[in-house]
This record gives sequence, structure tokens and C-alpha cells, in this order.
Amino acid sequence: MEWFACLLCIVALLILLFIWHSTKSYGRLESLGIPVIKPFLCFGSPPLDWHNVRWYDWYRMQHEKLGHTFGHYIGTFPVISTINPDFIKAVYVKNFEEFGDMVDNANLKDIMKTIDLAQGEDWKNLRKILSPTFTSGKLKKMIDPMSEVSAKAIENLKKLVKTGKPIEVKHFFQAYALDTICRCAFSIDTNALEDDDHKLIKAGREIFQGFAMTNWMETIGNLIFYFFPGLETTFPTIMYPESFYKLHDLTNDLIKERKASNEKFDDFIDKIIEVCNDANAPVSPDMIKAQGSIFFAAGFETTSNCLSTLCYTLAKNPDIQDKLYEEILSVLASNEEIDTESINNLPYLDAAIHENLRIHPPIPIQERICKKDVEVEGLKVKKGTYIRMPIYAAHMNPDFFPDPEAFNPDRFLKENASSMKPYTFRGFSGGPRICLGQRFAMVEMKICMARLLKSFKIKACPMTQLEYKAGDPFIMGFDSIYLTFEERS
Ligand code: HEM
Repeated sequence: MEWFACLLCIVALLILLFIWHSTKSYGRLESLGIPVIKPFLCFGSPPLDWHNVRWYDWYRMQHEKLGHTFGHYIGTFPVISTINPDFIKAVYVKNFEEFGDMVDNANLKDIMKTIDLAQGEDWKNLRKILSPTFTSGKLKKMIDPMSEVSAKAIENLKKLVKTGKPIEVKHFFQAYALDTICRCAFSIDTNALEDDDHKLIKAGREIFQGFAMTNWMETIGNLIFYFFPGLETTFPTIMYPESFYKLHDLTNDLIKERKASNEKFDDFIDKIIEVCNDANAPVSPDMIKAQGSIFFAAGFETTSNCLSTLCYTLAKNPDIQDKLYEEILSVLASNEEIDTESINNLPYLDAAIHENLRIHPPIPIQERICKKDVEVEGLKVKKGTYIRMPIYAAHMNPDFFPDPEAFNPDRFLKENASSMKPYTFRGFSGGPRICLGQRFAMVEMKICMARLLKSFKIKACPMTQLEYKAGDPFIMGFDSIYLTFEERS
């Protein structure tokens, strides 16, 4: 009986400790004088059924209700959610020292330090090493391979159209995006456009499915990281789905093959080998190899997501599609070859891609952690507070974008640039941590859409719908979009 009483005491003590640990930061946000969503017991602020929540839309609704800045608690963490452009500018640029990182974990293993998760000096060193991958000169050289891949994609699409069935565009563009990034950054021909079962396509799809929570077990699994930060170091495969590590293996295989062949391509694999061979390199071999995975992953999902939603939007807006066709025809009619000049002469296409990114940003929410007490926009932000900067919520807020539901590429034309407040459009993020692949992605998407719209009219059909999944905090993910393509004569 004594042992039972003892056990009860230990359990009670553990529960009390947990309650103390979980609630110790409560009150911190309230003292800032911003609206706060009150926590439920010791479990943080509702909603708690994360797997049922469409996070991008939840933040949009809360900002509409509570204003440009509000607070809520996730696990033990106080979170300030803001779409205030001045606050965001401070986080991105002015107070980069305090808010430069997404995580605060000194024990993260080098193999997990992909640039998006890397902190402080590691991030600075990686950014310096990786930035030259997409210089203007390098991008210019990538236009021919990109153009070849896109020509192949259009031929492939012509074959699919002949079957007379609606086309599922997400899978199609995933293959296009993978073939392009692999050809340009890794100098390999994946030919995923012909082989839908390609192991890299499968790994890519698994990764992004792996982030979404689909049931209570997965929600609780995720919540635990917010109650016990640092656990990800002990369970790295939980933080990143197992398929992410398959991409690590692939980078290793490519390095081995390249070394054995002794060939030089001046690409990303050559860069990794160069860094690994340099005894004075500021980053370890494991850390530079980890970047292979982020290039695969980042280059795959975001671009294909964006191209798919753009086709959907154009099918719903035939007048804008016609305008794009006219522009593309005026630039490419006499010249089948796509070059830097033709790409730069498509301002309406550029604007349409940006406007689509506004309404359908593949990455809908951003997060930074405060590493030092600091005052921002009159708020005294304490170390350990998360700053969430919902991208979709800002893009759909009428204070920044009047008539936000309307697809209107004119907003992004150069002559209208002055009417857009800086740091309200953040499809590619901003500040020193702006998307590393932004220019690459824009060229890749423009080449593909120019060819596609020149050859086809995109139309909606009874199967056409775009339904974003619940439970995904990182990506505005959807399973499929079906469209029909009418070949132009
Ligand atoms: C339409 C396509 C794309 C969109 C919308 C997009 C969007 C973004 C956004 C919003 C971020 C910031 C994430 C954050 O701060 O939490 C980001 C970061 C990043 N993106 Fe992209 N991206 C795209 C394509 C690409 C491509 C093609 C690559 C590489 C080939 C790439 C590589 C990266 C990298 C490496 C980072 C991390 C940068 C850093 O932390 O310094 N992205 N991207």
C-alpha cells in the first residue's frame, strides 16, 4: 500500500511540474496590451485539434477579427502573430540579430542543419556559400536546359491531351519541377515527366505529405515539441519525415558518382565537393551535404504548387489568359527559342505569377524565434517568444490589397508598384533570409507558362476544384487539380 501511495505522489508531482512548466509563460502576452486568445487550461490557446485546422485561413480570420497583431499560446510558447508591415520589416531586417532564426537549438546535428533551420554563424556561412548558385551569370546558363525540359514537358502534355481525359496538373508540374532542378543544380536527367514512379518524385511527395497532421496522434506528436523544445535533437526523424533522409542518401550517391567520374559541371554537386575538400571551410561536410535535400525539396513542391494553382486561376479567368496569350505571342511568335531577352519582355506574365502567389502562396505562414529581449514597434518582446508572420493572411487583407479575392495581375505591374506597401507581399519572404531560389523559380515558371499558354488554352471542367488540406502548418497543400487543355492551332 505504501508503494502505491508513493507512486500516486510521484504522478501528482509530475502532473504539477507539467502544469507549472506549461503555464509559466502565461500572462506574458497579455502584459503587452495586444488582443490575446486565452489558453485552455495548460494546453495552450485553442484550437487544439490541429489536424482539422486550415491554418492559413485560421490566421486570416483571426487577423480580420483581432487586428494586425495578436497573441496566442502554442504549448509553452507565447506567439505574437503579426501582419503589420512595419513589425515585419523590423523582424526581417532591422532586428535580424534578435529574430534571424526559425529555431533556437544549439544541439541541432550538422546533418539536420538545412539552411532554413541553420542558425547564427552557420546560417551566414551557408548563405554565403549557396548564394552564388543562382547568380545572373549562372541563371543565364540555366536557360537552355530549362527551355529543353519545358519543351519536353509540352510534348508530354500534348500526348496526355490526346487521351481526351482531364489532366491532373499537380503531378505533371511536380515532374517538371523535379526534372528542372535536377538538370540545373545537379546535372542529372531524372526524366520524371516520363516516369511518374521515379524514386525522387516519390520521396518528394512523401516529405510534404509527412508534414501534415491527419489525426489526434499526429497532433499530440507535434504538440509535444512545443511543450518540450529541443526534443527534435533526440528524435530527428520525427522533425523531418523519414523520406527527407532518403534525399540525403541521394546527395551522397551523386557526390560519389561525380568523384568517380572526375567530371566538372560547375553545379551544386561540384560546390559540395569543393567545400568538403576544403579543410578551412567554415561549414562541416555533413552540413553542406544537408543542403542537397533542401534544394530538392524546396525546388520541388513550391514551384509545382504555384504552377498548378496558376493554371487553375487562368482557367477561371479566361480574359486574363487571353491577355497573357497575346503578350506571349508578341514576344515568342517569330522566335521559338526562349532566351533572357524574351523572358524579360513578359511583364504581364511576371505580374500574373506574382498575383497568383498572392492568392495562393505555397508557404502561407512564417515563423521566427526571439533570441534576445528587444522592443519592437512599442512591444517589449521577451526571449523565447515566437513571431508568426502569416503570409496568406496579409495577402488577403483588404487593408493591404483592396478587393483581395479578385485576381488582378495589374497590381504587380511596375507602374503600380508605388501603391503596394513594402512587406505586405511576401510570397518569397523578404530581408536577408529571402527565398534563395526566387530568381531561379521565376525564370523556371515563366519559361514553362510561356510555352504552355502559347500551345494550349486552359479550361475548367466538371472535375475542376482546388481544395486545400487541413492540418498542414507549412504548405498550402492540395491533392490534385484537374483541368482540360485545348491545343491551339
Ligand atoms: C514558387 C516557388 C517558391 C516559393 C513561393 C518559395 C518561397 C519561399 C519562402 C516564403 C521562403 C522563406 C521561408 C521562411 O522564412 O520560413 C523560402 C526560403 C527558401 N527557399 Fe524558396 N520558394 C520557391 C522556390 C524555391 C526554389 C526553386 C528553391 C531552390 C532551388 C528555393 C530555395 C529556398 C531556400 C534554400 C530557402 C531558405 C533560405 C534561407 O533560410 O536563407 N525556393 N522560399
